[in-house]
Amino acid sequence: MKQVIGLLGCGTVGGGVDAIAMAREDLTVKKILLLYPQPGTEGRDVYDFAEIENDPEITVVAEAMGGVEPAFTYASRALKAGKHFVTANKALIAAKGAELAKLAVENGVSLRCTAAVGGGIPWLTNLTRCRRLDTIRSVRGIMNGTTNFIMNAMHTQEVSFDDVLKKAQSLGYAEANPSADIDGWDTQRKIILSAGAAFDKFAAEAEVDTFGIRNVTAMDVKAFQSLGYVCKLVAVAKDGGDGLVAYVEPTLLGASELEAAVPSNFNLITYDAEYFGVQSFYGQGAGRFPTAANVVQDILDLADCKPGFYTDKLAPAKVCNDKEAHPYYVRTTLDAWSDKAATKGDGWIITEPIAVSEMHAWAKKAMKDDPALFFAGIQ
Ligand code: HSE
Repeated sequence: MKQVIGLLGCGTVGGGVDAIAMAREDLTVKKILLLYPQPGTEGRDVYDFAEIENDPEITVVAEAMGGVEPAFTYASRALKAGKHFVTANKALIAAKGAELAKLAVENGVSLRCTAAVGGGIPWLTNLTRCRRLDTIRSVRGIMNGTTNFIMNAMHTQEVSFDDVLKKAQSLGYAEANPSADIDGWDTQRKIILSAGAAFDKFAAEAEVDTFGIRNVTAMDVKAFQSLGYVCKLVAVAKDGGDGLVAYVEPTLLGASELEAAVPSNFNLITYDAEYFGVQSFYGQGAGRFPTAANVVQDILDLADCKPGFYTDKLAPAKVCNDKEAHPYYVRTTLDAWSDKAATKGDGWIITEPIAVSEMHAWAKKAMKDDPALFFAGIQ
């Protein structure tokens, strides 16, 4: 049976979805919602969502507009109209995932968002597949291509942070506002989506302790290397009983760790489950065709009657990082943590284990007096 698609947006990812669908006989993009006319969409372009919502032939709405609104309004209307909803939009799902999952269940349709975490990597697909049989203990990984590209370059070449960021932007990896990448917000959304699929627990964005790589310097990297470490931006989530452990922070990894070896803009995302043990998924976490291909895979999975990712069991959960502790590298001009210093270097210390919540709370306050401070967890 042919899947008839209403596509929202025809930019980088949407255009990729259209191109992939066009090459297949079992998929038709019947209508494309646009803001203004675009070449290649003639005869299918619409400017009012109602034309998709009220078209009984369209069974799947694929969204590639980005942002929370109007994507949320269109998603809600699509689900209420009995249409499956497929998206690459992590901001939408991180902000409204629980509501949309409920709407999907109420209306007997599915919500899928494989492309929202890890671009072209079949991460959420395999996470949900693992989870139907097994109990997941933790999810973690490198979930942002831009920051990995920057960290990799800073470890292998004499380059400044600003120059590498510009290169990542010119290669099209970075978000329109690169703060989403370098301050960790993009990764934060991806760990929320992953934890929701792994544990049925949905964290609020504001509660996930998040520190990015904006302040890392070439001197920090030299210090990491002298200690035998590689630094990556890593997200972690664990089922914490009543709530969730969830955080995003620069992380120092032993040079022989898999994550330490991730090159360029690649992602590596891992779950640890009781039967399966540790399984990792590696690949292109961004880019037009890898991401668009995962949107299309979701549509094909729906045609194969595979279920949606989130069920009505998905519920908001509190984040509690108080009992999660490890040593930290801290570089600051402030007189801090001297009672917890295990090793002292030139302007930096390595601490005894400190709770994640405590370190992030300290950094948030201390940034007012030392806006250039940097810390990284040691795992
Ligand atoms: N800016 C993101 C990244 C794109 O660099 O990974 C994919 O979410």
